[in-house]
Amino acid sequence: MTRRTTLPRLLPALDGGSRARLAYGADYNPEQWPREVWHEDVRLMRRAGVNIISLGIFSWARVQPDDDVWDFAWLDELMDLLHAHGIAVDLATATASPPPWLTTAHPEILPVTAEGATVWPGARQHWRPTSPVFREYALRLVSAMAKQYAGHPALAAWHINNELGCHNIYDYSDDAARAFRLWLRDRYESLDRLNHAWGTAFWSQRYSDWEQILPPRLAASHPNPTQQLDFKRFSSHALKDYLCAERDILRRLTPETPVTSNFMVMGGTKGMNYADWAREVDFVSNDHYVHPGPQDRDELSFSANLISGIAGGRPWYVMEHSTSAVNWQPVNVAKRPGDLARDSLLHVAHGADGICFFQWRQSAAGAEKYHSAMVPHAGEDSAVFRAVTELGATLDELAPVAGSEREPAAVAILFDWESWWASEQDSHPTSRLDYRQEALDWYSALLALGIRADVITTDTDLAPYRLLIAPVLHVVPGDLADRLTRYAEGGGHLVTTYFSGVVDENDHVWLGGYPGALRDLLGIRVEEFGPLLDGDAVSLDGGFTGTLWADRVDVTDPAVEILARYGSGEHTGCAAVTRRPVGSGSATYVATRLGPDGLTGLLPRLLEAADVHSELPATARGQVELTVRRAGGHRYLFLVNRTDEPAALPGLAGDVLTGDLGGARTGAGDELPGGHEDAPQSHLTLPPRGVAVLREPAP
Ligand code: GAL
Repeated sequence: MTRRTTLPRLLPALDGGSRARLAYGADYNPEQWPREVWHEDVRLMRRAGVNIISLGIFSWARVQPDDDVWDFAWLDELMDLLHAHGIAVDLATATASPPPWLTTAHPEILPVTAEGATVWPGARQHWRPTSPVFREYALRLVSAMAKQYAGHPALAAWHINNELGCHNIYDYSDDAARAFRLWLRDRYESLDRLNHAWGTAFWSQRYSDWEQILPPRLAASHPNPTQQLDFKRFSSHALKDYLCAERDILRRLTPETPVTSNFMVMGGTKGMNYADWAREVDFVSNDHYVHPGPQDRDELSFSANLISGIAGGRPWYVMEHSTSAVNWQPVNVAKRPGDLARDSLLHVAHGADGICFFQWRQSAAGAEKYHSAMVPHAGEDSAVFRAVTELGATLDELAPVAGSEREPAAVAILFDWESWWASEQDSHPTSRLDYRQEALDWYSALLALGIRADVITTDTDLAPYRLLIAPVLHVVPGDLADRLTRYAEGGGHLVTTYFSGVVDENDHVWLGGYPGALRDLLGIRVEEFGPLLDGDAVSLDGGFTGTLWADRVDVTDPAVEILARYGSGEHTGCAAVTRRPVGSGSATYVATRLGPDGLTGLLPRLLEAADVHSELPATARGQVELTVRRAGGHRYLFLVNRTDEPAALPGLAGDVLTGDLGGARTGAGDELPGGHEDAPQSHLTLPPRGVAVLREPAP
């Protein structure tokens, strides 16, 4: 598990670290600017309330201009300058982008694609995670950085590399092949076991020597699925192993300084199994960028929630997000007024104790010159910089929440990297399945109903949850099936969907009919998968519409209740949603993709059976997201207006820590109930996209 890092410890440069506060800052790339700008930077940082910055992320070429040539003078000056202005440093190990002298001398560190093409320098992260040569040079740099800055008063944390795996998660080089074989030997111990796991009796793939095994390079047709799944597992492991190698040096040389590495729980970034990585760092940090679209802020909330789950409910950090537009989407739209603050506070609502941006000052040159920053091209006289400064003040008001943990909800969504990887592989019933989208749809439906839910991973204790939703839980090893059965028998209400329970950890089908490992628990049997063609849909009674998939479900246990039947298509009249009573709990199967609207219609019945109710006033459900953090005898209620309309919150009481409440009034008169734990009933109104935080005594 992660070591506990609290804010006072992370911000040693401030007040001797005595006052808890939220961290606020950005990636800082001063090497792109002349020295006089550095002084302007620290002045503006102070104005904006910045108290931490990430430094040195892409500084390898500057710190080590050539083999055996080192230049720390400029970085020493910056560390001192920042410290003198009360700004702490999350110092990068600077290993993210190897300099040209290194790749020229050692082109064998460059990654290779599945097609055999070299990934050349010219951008960044052009290194093989398994290259011993890269590791030697990179770890030498890590040691040099650690020795140089051990004990520096500005040093608050170490930032390992940067977004490990963003561009180099899959490398098919000979180094990767060698490391893959070692990993496989460790996993299977014998070739017989590997041959069994990979099902190599199929297509004459049997291996008689470990040296015959390769990464799944470009092949004539569908490569072996277990080889593919194991290569995904291995690739995530290889980068985690690299992370640990840097971390071990840092812990040896600077044992007091906490270590992090920025994860990328967002959108379709799926190569790194962060649930597996989290225990290796002292605090979890994440980068998140909004992809504009109909569920964009639900996705932000989902990602933040998942990161909180990965962090075990303890505080974590947003290491990067954007003040406004990015530069790497097909169309890069600016954020609307209010989005900068709401996006940031939604992360805090889900447990972030630090809010940082990419980057401090918008670049004038290079590939990211059109990416927004805290100080935009327009300068300090700009709406973005004003919003940045306002957010700094808001985060200061929210200092009391620093260190508080997430209060578990009654509902959880189970998110499983193995199922994500396996369910989307090729040669499946459909290539249209989107694992994360199905999970997000359930989450959106819960938000629409005003139900608080935690996103958790399979290593989480299931006991606190009355309703557990496991969408497309495709990989179900026997022990997970047993856990889920015990969960339901013990009174939990399990919900799962199409393409769940189908395979074991080797990606071998559980025989006898689907949903395989969960068939008996659900009391149903599916003989053939029911993928639907693009544009096809089935109706269900209750007014729902199913797309993507429509299993024909046979009920095998007479106790099973049919919650919805197909009203059209091949299976008209057959069960589409079933529920089996199990002990004092139940197990529900949803045989089609209902999407957020359909799930919003279905969920009330599932919630009612689990005795779960919204904690929000009826009028605010769907409009407002509620999260709860808890510490030191207090509960902190975060109320986030998801919409562009004002949201009324009648009946909520508490001490308002922050919130531009749009003319909020308490029941007692015109005063906000600040400071009164027994405040009268308040009648708060959140402005469009507004956020308020209430504090109340914990029961
Ligand atoms: C991240 C990266 C940053 C910057 C940012 C732009 O992937 O860590 O260095 O490139 O994206 O959105």
